[in-house]
Amino acid sequence: MLALTFQDVARHADVLRVRSGQSITVRFVEPKDAAALQDYFRGLSSRSRYNRFLGALSELPRTELEKSLHIGEDNRFTVIALIKADGAEAIVGEARYAIEPESGRFEFGLSVDDRWQGHGIGPALLSNLQCRAAALGAQRIFGDTLRSNESMIKLARKAGYAFGPTPNDWKLVRFEKPIVLAPDEIPCASWRLAASHPAAVALAH
Ligand SMILES: CC(C)(COP(=O)(O)OP(=O)(O)OC[C@H]1O[C@@H](n2cnc3c(N)ncnc32)[C@H](O)[C@@H]1OP(=O)(O)O)[C@@H](O)C(=O)NCCC(=O)NCCS
Repeated sequence: MLALTFQDVARHADVLRVRSGQSITVRFVEPKDAAALQDYFRGLSSRSRYNRFLGALSELPRTELEKSLHIGEDNRFTVIALIKADGAEAIVGEARYAIEPESGRFEFGLSVDDRWQGHGIGPALLSNLQCRAAALGAQRIFGDTLRSNESMIKLARKAGYAFGPTPNDWKLVRFEKPIVLAPDEIPCASWRLAASHPAAVALAH
């Protein structure tokens, strides 16, 4: 298990340029973000929340919110995507990912604020996740989504994922691909984390 300290977490962030030309910052969530993260989930349309959580939820359950704030616990991580608007930073996306050290499999789910969908934030976040997967030594990356989720299916297809059934759930489809990215080709927060925390790299072997 890789439990990170507050100082570790604060040091790791990526600035990404999205298709629309704007810059977003992707960083690990911090305890001070708890209320903003919950507001973000409450502010999603019910359709987006349904797609993200694969069921009807009005907000992130309290226990899940708590877990989200513990970066690295059980090899699970939460990142938020922030954009500067009117001098203040707002959460416009999030992703949660987990690495299974024994199998080298990296699972993720993500979402983008409805007002910001269609601007390329999803693809930027997805390639950042792929870099994070590579940095942690993952061999394969995958996610599950509802068969009706056209936006996510389109996004995954464009990013070169292959599709197959999700075990034990006919409503879902699994998109998956091998990680071929060398971590040092596109440095990201997890790459720096792995470099400064050999334990993080050891996780994946
Ligand atoms: C799936 C998701 C992450 C895509 O992120 P994004 O930032 O909108 O990605 P893009 O900007 O590349 O848009 C993806 C495609 O979907 C289309 N799209 C985006 N929002 C859409 C919407 N609300 N309705 C229909 N199509 C939409 C875009 O036009 C784009 O198509 P294009 O590539 O042909 O132009 C985002 O739609 C989302 O957060 N959905 C809700 C949560 C979710 O479904 N999570 C996935 C669970 S794993």
